[in-house]
Parts: sequence; C-alpha cells; structure tokens
Amino acid sequence: MKARVAVLISGRGSNLAALVEAAKRRSYPAEIALVLSNRPAAAGLSHAQAASVPTGVIDHVPYHGDRERFEHAIEEVLERYRIDIVCLAGFMRVLTASFIKRWEGRMLNVHPSLLPAFKGLDTHGRALAAGVKVHGATIHFVAAGVDDGPIVAQGALAVHDQDTPETLANRVLEIEHRIYPMALGLLAAGRLELREGRCVIGRQTTDDRGQATGTVIISPLISDV
Ligand code: GRF
Repeated sequence: MKARVAVLISGRGSNLAALVEAAKRRSYPAEIALVLSNRPAAAGLSHAQAASVPTGVIDHVPYHGDRERFEHAIEEVLERYRIDIVCLAGFMRVLTASFIKRWEGRMLNVHPSLLPAFKGLDTHGRALAAGVKVHGATIHFVAAGVDDGPIVAQGALAVHDQDTPETLANRVLEIEHRIYPMALGLLAAGRLELREGRCVIGRQTTDDRGQATGTVIISPLISDV
C-alpha cells in the first residue's frame, strides 16, 4: 500500500508540483493525499486542485500566534486524511517542538542551501555574499530547530561570478525538484534509517555507488593555470 502524504505549503508550490508529478508513477511508493496551506491565496492550491488532489486551508491569522491551537487544527485534518508522511514545501510557519516530535522520522523539509550552511531565509543572497563556490539544496528530516534535522539528500551546483540571487534560485530550484521526489520515495519505501542522528540509506544501487565515487563538483573549474 502506498504511503499517504500531506504536503504543507504557503505559496507558489513548485516543489508540491514536482511531488505530485512523481506520484503519478504507478511504481512510486507514495500518493499525495492532501495539500494544506496556511495561506488561502497560495498559488500551489490551484495546482493541487487542477491535479485533483484534495486541498485544505488552515489560515494561521485567526489563531493570533497561538501555535498549539493552529497545529491542533492541522493535526485534525492530517488524522482525517490518515496521513503517514508530512512534506513541508515552502511552508512558512515555525512548528512547535511537540508537533515535530509527533512526526519525528515522518516529516521532511526542503531547504535551498547545502545545510548546515545558510539556515533561514535569503539563502542565495547570503551564499553569494559569502562567496561560496558551490551551493545547492537539501532535503532533511524535520527536527526541533529551524532548518535542522538529519539530511536525506543534497544536490550541489557551481556558483558563477555573474550569478544573482535570482539566477541561483532558479538553478537550485531545479535541484529541489529532483531530490525531493527521490527523498520522499526513499522514505515511503522504508529505505531510510536514522542512526545516531544521521540518515542512512539502507540499500544503495550500483548507480548510487557509481556516482558517489565518480562525481566531483569543482568550482571554478579552470584548466589554463
Ligand atoms: C523553495 O525554494 C524551498 O526550498 C523553500 O521555499 C521555496 C518554496 O518554493 N523552502 P515552492 O513553493 O515549492 O515553489
């Protein structure tokens, strides 16, 4: 039986779209059973509706900062839809420790940097300001602490001198769209294991190992020196 997944969003929903697309595959081990937004106007909601995925809105505004009550409302809907896994995809609310505890090992997040570097907002601007030559995206289990938790997957790219926060964001987003469906698929298939606070992937294919030993990103890659 496929794992039932709720995707929590606040805005555009391009990662949600990537997950919905991946879940169309018959062999994919998860189905997107619900999309929940804390913003009624989130563009991602229309994408979900167009894909015939059930949607719900739990607006945080009427809760006036009462996180417990807000999350209680979320929990109710997650329960009603018999959700097994929660995917945060651009969900812009900080969750309480008890919510995180309840979904420990069953909740993923996507973050647009190579964690643990650049937690928080404006990751691309800060990466450029820091002058890093390699940047990327991370899928991680959610643990207490913002953008914290065992790393499931990362994708990296070379930063160019002419990059702006926008050009970087666009290229990193493409990585997010590749690694999030893969990470969710691994979790849903029971292929991820948490060992001493780290995430390990039980069974690696020959491809994984080939790439792990063969792929190196060097940035900048200059040959005439
Ligand atoms: C993504 O860049 C994600 O990494 C960050 O918020 C953005 C959400 O984009 N957490 P989208 O709503 O999935 O298009």
